Order: sequence, then structure tokens, then C-alpha cells
Amino acid sequence: MCETPQPEDLLTWYDRHARIMPWRVSPEDRKSGHRPDPYRVWLSEIMLQQTTVAAVRSYFLKFTELWPTVSDLARAEDDDVMAAWAGLGYYARARNLLKCARVVTERYNGIFPSDRAALQSLPGIGPYTSAAIASIAFDQPETVVDGNVERVMARVFAVEEPLPPAKARLTTLAESLTPKKRPGDYAQAVMDLGATICTPKRPACGICPWMTGCKARDLGIAADLPRKLAK
Ligand code: ADE
Repeated sequence: MCETPQPEDLLTWYDRHARIMPWRVSPEDRKSGHRPDPYRVWLSEIMLQQTTVAAVRSYFLKFTELWPTVSDLARAEDDDVMAAWAGLGYYARARNLLKCARVVTERYNGIFPSDRAALQSLPGIGPYTSAAIASIAFDQPETVVDGNVERVMARVFAVEEPLPPAKARLTTLAESLTPKKRPGDYAQAVMDLGATICTPKRPACGICPWMTGCKARDLGIAADLPRKLAK
């Protein structure tokens, strides 16, 4: 039995069970090494901040139909972009989206930079989004940590320390597992695991690709983690 969860086991699961999303490449294309378009990765990650996958889907399709490339978006009228965004909320995201599209078009010739520091200097891109773009679009071994990933790490390593103080520790643990091979698929695989199997309530441990390495499952406390400081 493996003592720690193996990234390869999660990638094998992802190859069969990845959620289909319009900004992802198809399983067949993934096999032949296709990377997703950085513009589409960036757009989806901005939309997914504070918004569910289900709500983002139709907006993503509308935006990419109206503006297929970052340079098309850069040339759009501000009012048209704000109108297309209406309903998604957090409108500062839409204003930064346009600013970022214009900087990428003017300063980078319409080609997204691949390194995290350059990405993070762009409007609306913070540490989380720069890691997501670097790993998903450019397959760099960056670690993406959102609430799903924190929950998976807390359970796999049976971290009893509550959130938020446990944040730094969970990030270090997530970094320690990030593989050099297929880090972009791995990042999305952990998110999918957290969204579909390692769910906040009633996790489906019986069908989890990481069940043998999961310390919380061994201890029978998976559903109790992560603990949260009393408000
Ligand atoms: N949430 C944020 N980014 C995501 C992604 N690439 N896949 C699934 N859920 C996400």
C-alpha cells in the first residue's frame, strides 16, 4: 500500500473522469499533447473567481464567440464588454479584463506571457490566477490552491489545524505533491476531485483515486476536515 497519494493515480482518474468544460481541451487532444489557448484559460479563470462553473459556462461561450482572441477583446467598446458581462457580478473584474486585454495586445503583441511574475503584473491577475494560467496554459509546475485544493490536502494529510491558520501549511503540502509531469492537468484534476468526490459533505471516499493514501479516511474523519475556526 502506498503511504502517500501518488499524482499519477489522480492523473489516470482525470483521464477518464475530467469534467467537460468549454475552456478545456478534449481528452483526445490532451493525449496528443495539445495545450489550451492561454486567452481562454485566462478568460475562464477571471470569470470563475467568485462564480460557479455552471454560471460561467454560457458567459464564456458568449465572450469567445464575440471576441475569439485577446486582440479582438482589446478592440471592443467598453460598453459592449460591460453589457456582455451583465449578470456575472463583481464588475471590477470586467473592467480589469479589458485593461488586461489591452496591455497584452499592446505590450505583448497579443501573446500572453508564460512566467508568473509577468502574468502577475497584468491588471486583475493575482497569485492564484497567475499560478492557474502558468500551470494550465503553459504546463509549468506551479501549484494552484483554492478552497477545493485546501480541503483535499487537509484530508489526505489529516491536517487538524483549522482554517484560516492552516492555509500556509496546506499550501506547502499542495506544493509538495505537484508533479513535474503534466502539472496543468494535475492542477485541474485536484480541483475536479474536490468538486466531485472529495466534497465538503459526504465525500465519496469509496470511489476516490486517492483512497489508499488518505490519512483522514484511515482515521474515519474525512467529512470533519478541514476544521474551521469558530466565527
Ligand atoms: N475553478 C477555477 N478554475 C477551474 C478550472 N480550471 N477547472 C475547474 N474548476 C475551476
